[in-house]
Amino acid sequence: MKFFIDTANLDQIREANELGVLDGVTTNPSLMAKEGIKGVENCNRHYVEICSIVKGDVSAEVIATDYESMIKEGTALATLHPNIVVKVPCIADGIKAIKYFSEKGIRTNCTLIFSPGQALLAAKAGATYVSPFVGRLDDIASDGIELVEKIVDMFNYYGFETQVLAASIRSTQHIIQCIEAGADVATCPLSAIKGLLNHPLTDSGLQKFLADHKKVNS
Ligand code: G3P
Repeated sequence: MKFFIDTANLDQIREANELGVLDGVTTNPSLMAKEGIKGVENCNRHYVEICSIVKGDVSAEVIATDYESMIKEGTALATLHPNIVVKVPCIADGIKAIKYFSEKGIRTNCTLIFSPGQALLAAKAGATYVSPFVGRLDDIASDGIELVEKIVDMFNYYGFETQVLAASIRSTQHIIQCIEAGADVATCPLSAIKGLLNHPLTDSGLQKFLADHKKVNS
C-alpha cells in the first residue's frame, strides 16, 4: 500500500519525505486555507513547491463546480508539474470532467466519495484514483473502512484500473484497517504515519539490547 500525506504543510511534507516511505501528497481547499495560502498564483506556487519536495503524485483540487470551469482550471493545474493529479469532486459535472481529463491523458482523483455507486461512476469515467472518506463516515456512525472494502472488491471484480485512495484517515488504526481492506493508497496525517512506529516491546527490547551491550563493553 502506498502512503500519501494529507496536508499542505511543507514542514510536515518534508518530515514525512525524509522518512523515505512517502509516495505522494494530497491537498484540498481546506488544507490550503489552513496554511494561509490564498489566490491562484500562490496556490500554484505552493503546488510546485510540494512537487519539488516529493517524488510522487500530488493532488491539487479544482475549486470550480461547473464542467467548463473545471476543465479550464484542471488543465491549468495539470500543466504546473507532471506529478500533479487533478482532484475533482464527485458531482455530475465532475464525472464529465474526469471523462474529459482521462481522454486527454490528465490524471484525476475523484474526491468526496461516500458510496460504492459514486466510486463506480468515477471509475467508469476513467479516474486514476477515487477517494473514499473514511473518517467522515465514521463521524456519522457509518463504517468508512467497510466502504473501502466494498470499492476494492468492486474494482477487483470488474477489473477497473482506478486505484482506491483511502482519505479522511484519522488514526494509525485506520491505516492498518486500510491495509487489511486492500486499499491501494492511504493518505494520512503525519501523526498517524508516525504512530505506525510505536510499540512498547520495541522500546523495551532496544533498552535491553543497549544495556546488555554496555555491560560487556564498559
Ligand atoms: O483530503 C481529504 C481528506 O482526507 C479530508 O480529511 O479529516 O478533513 O475528513 P478530513
